[in-house]
Formats: sequence, structure tokens, C-alpha cells
Amino acid sequence: MNLDVKSVFISDRVGPGCEALFKEHGVEVTTKYGLPKDELIAELKKHDAVVVRSETKITADIIEAVPNLKMVGRAGTGTDNIDLTAATNNGVVVLNTPGGNSISACELTCGMIYALSRNIVPAGQSMKEGRWDRKLYSGFELYGKTLGVVGFGRIGREVAQRMLACGMKVVAYDPFLTRDEAKRLGVEFGHIDDIWKLSDMITFHTPLMPETKNLLNKDTLARCKKGVYVVNVARGGIVDEQALLDSLKAGHCGGAALDVFSEEPITSAHLLELVKHSRVVATPHLGASTAEAQERVAVEIAEQMLVLGGHTNRYPL
Ligand code: NAD
Ligand code: MLT
Repeated sequence: MNLDVKSVFISDRVGPGCEALFKEHGVEVTTKYGLPKDELIAELKKHDAVVVRSETKITADIIEAVPNLKMVGRAGTGTDNIDLTAATNNGVVVLNTPGGNSISACELTCGMIYALSRNIVPAGQSMKEGRWDRKLYSGFELYGKTLGVVGFGRIGREVAQRMLACGMKVVAYDPFLTRDEAKRLGVEFGHIDDIWKLSDMITFHTPLMPETKNLLNKDTLARCKKGVYVVNVARGGIVDEQALLDSLKAGHCGGAALDVFSEEPITSAHLLELVKHSRVVATPHLGASTAEAQERVAVEIAEQMLVLGGHTNRYPL
């Protein structure tokens, strides 16, 4: 396939390697961030392709307003900010870089697990406020505890490997995981009900789709062990945030660590209350925000677009 891409618009902050690689192959690049929809459309009309991260929403009306657009490159994993149906119907190729930021998302997840177990965030905050609260912030060992991993793809597997190494038992649920594969990887093969029943801590690593929306909800939370900890570095909406807040307030959920939200940036009262809860650790969608991951996905997306755009065959697709 040769889509003849001569000019690219970069609409979100991506690593500098992206622009550099396009320019090295003679592709014109324009970079402007945070444009309102009408200005974004006006820019896209002048370009063959666009590179986005997650801030720019490539909606159906944008795709339909820009018949010249040939390609959307997503410097990251999830493509939920791009209307894939509209892209397919209008012959627009959508590319992403699955895997380019998996290690970073995994490492943040592991950090969240440690932060929850040892109260690192509130204890650190208390020191800054001049307090010395040794009793209040006593934690628990991860060693011997059970981690439920929901979604055993790239990131779920990386998390499991690291948490096994620190002595946790891991029970994994994924519709595509086989018993043999689970055994080979040293994890317990579970059904989703086993996750709720057995886990001291549950971490989610699925895409957001109808089957995973509100997977952790009022009913499934009630089936979890009292004191269960919840980690979501995947997508907002997999965990029902109102149900999580209610469970934290009722003392059933022991704590939660959240990097992603159903609304980003958050403005709703219940989300603000959730992130301010004393037993919640929250970060503003930082899973992929490392220098290494950003450079990797920036270069990978440019490579793919250059190959499909007919500029080189040097990079593997
Ligand atoms: P992946 O495709 O490698 O793995 C996802 C797994 O979920 C697959 O194995 C799939 O079989 C499984 N799955 C699908 N439906 C399921 C269901 N109903 N129940 C349980 N499992 C189900 O994806 P990945 O690269 O590991 O990414 C996982 C998630 O993390 C995605 O939502 C991605 O967008 C997100 N992510 C977030 C950040 C961040 O910055 N916070 C960074 C990278 C990725
Ligand atoms: C992804 O899906 O790649 C992550 O959410 C991170 C990002 O948006 O950059």
C-alpha cells in the first residue's frame, strides 16, 4: 500500500524523534497543540496525515470534514480517541504503537501497588505538612498476598512477572488466556469470579469496550474481599467510579490507585471527591509519560507512517 503522504500535522505533544524522522524523509511537518475543532479541521485540510496522542479527538465529523486525510497515527496504545468506524468508512488508515509504552505503564502500575501497600503518598504528604505519624501509616507486605490481574495482554503480563518476583501470588483472567499458558507463566488461571473472590488487590489491564465497561461495579465490588485494593492504569470507565467511591466510604474497598478516569481532565464532583479521598492515590494519566516511552512511540509511529506513506521500506510494520 502506498498512501503518498507528503505532509503531516502533529496535534499533540509527542517525542521530538517523530518530527525529525519525517523531516529526514522529506515529509513536511506542522506542529500545533490544543487547537479548537474548527482550526484543527482547517489544518488537517492542508495535510495528508495527522499524528495524535490522546488529547486530540479525531471524531466522525472531523473525518468527514477532511476528505483529503489519508492516515491517523496514534503515538500510543489505545485508539479510543479516534472514531474507527468513521475512519474505515472514509478510507482513512489508523495506525498505533501497541507495546511502545507497555513497560512504562507496567512500571507505574507496580509503583501504584507499592504506594498503596505502604501508604507512601499520604505518609510523604504528612511529612511535608510537618507531621511524624508512624502509627497512622503502617502498611502491609505484598509478599504472600494475591494479585488479581484482569486482562493478561502486554501490560498485564509485565505486571504479573514483576509482582511474582516480589512474592505475590497472581491469579489472571483474560478470555484468551489458556490454562497451559497460565501455568507456563507461573500464574493461576482464573475465571472473573475467582478474581473477585481471591484477590487482595486487583489491577485492570483491558481496553475499554462494552464488555469491560464498569467491570468493577457495585455488585462485583460486593463480591470482593473486605479491604480489597483496586488499581486502574488502563482506561477510565472499566471501574465504576461512583461505586468505588461508595465502597471506599463504606470501608469495603481498602484503597485505590487510579491513573485514568471516565472524564479527563476531571471536573465532576464525584471524581474530585474520589481523587481527594484519603485512601486514593491518583495521577493524571501518566502511564506512558516517560522519556523512553514517549520517544519510542514517537519514532515507531513515524516509521509506520513513512512505510505506508511510500517513503521507505527500511522499518518493519
Ligand atoms: P493488550 O491488548 O496487550 O491487552 C489487553 C488484554 O485484555 C488482551 O489480552 C485481551 O484479551 C484482554 N481482554 C479483552 N477483553 C477482556 C475482558 N472482557 N476481560 C478480561 N480481559 C479482556 O493491551 P495492553 O497494551 O496491555 O494495554 C492494556 C490497557 O492499558 C489498554 O486499555 C491501554 O489503552 C491501556 N494503557 C494505558 C496507559 C496509560 O497511560 N495509563 C498506557 C498504555 C496502555
Ligand atoms: C495509551 O493508550 O497509549 C495511553 O493511554 C497513553 C497515552 O495516551 O499516551
